[in-house]
Amino acid sequence: MATDWQQLSRDVEALLKEARRQVIAKMHQTLTVDEKTGRKDLVTNVDKGNEQFLIHAIRQLDPQAQVLGEEGFGDQVTSVKGRLWIVDPIDGTMNFVKQRDNFAMMIGIYQDGVGQLGFIYDVMNDVLYRGGPQLGGVWANQQPLSAPADLALADGLIGMSSPLVIKDIAHTQAIVHASAGMRVYGSAGIEMINIMLGKTLGYISYLKPWDFAAGQVLLNTLGVRTSTIDGQPLDMLSSNLVLVATKQAQRDILQIEEDDVSL
Ligand code: IPD
Ligand code: CA
Ligand code: CA
Repeated sequence: MATDWQQLSRDVEALLKEARRQVIAKMHQTLTVDEKTGRKDLVTNVDKGNEQFLIHAIRQLDPQAQVLGEEGFGDQVTSVKGRLWIVDPIDGTMNFVKQRDNFAMMIGIYQDGVGQLGFIYDVMNDVLYRGGPQLGGVWANQQPLSAPADLALADGLIGMSSPLVIKDIAHTQAIVHASAGMRVYGSAGIEMINIMLGKTLGYISYLKPWDFAAGQVLLNTLGVRTSTIDGQPLDMLSSNLVLVATKQAQRDILQIEEDDVSL
């Protein structure tokens, strides 16, 4: 049966609103915080509980689909064939723990590896960004978004993950130098929102599929490019050094990579 994408989008919207209600309620209780790979890579009871809640609901909405979740409550996904949902239950867990702010919930829906719908929920501001080719645009709650200006690197701010810049991986210091300045938000989802709104012109970070799946759908719909740092398509099943940028800024950054420019 053909998918009713409008209806599916409304269903996901309702699901995320309920998930937000639950997460906000749990924020007022004591969090259980565990380290994953180290002291800067955290997971809480809220991340795990929210992923279980979301994946259980997704299985009811779309029983045939595969689901890839960050905390491991989904499927062991080895192929992007068919429908694939990619879930980050709390993006920006460090912010969630330390700030109780600046974190997001994210869901991307792909068909045979091609993005169809994306959802990034800025939880504390209660703004849900949703859209994709199946909806023909992107909305912030009920407000349609227009494409951000196609700025050159020199004309805008760029989001970065700090370890990349500290270690000067992939010429990130030269890229920052060539831009109007660097911003670091600590949540891939919030970074993607800032690009959609034209507040920054791009973002560079090592990311896993759940960090970029939703944002890729939304940003591509608004004409913003997503690729690896050397301009290749992102692999939806592994880590990537991700470059998100306006068309002009992507060209400028790929040129810096090609010229092997260091400060
Ligand atoms: C992290 C955040 C962070 C990015 C990391 C991600 P998480 O996601 O998006 O900004 O730099 O690479 O892992 O672990 O908080 O969902
Ligand atoms: Ca994440
Ligand atoms: Ca997460």
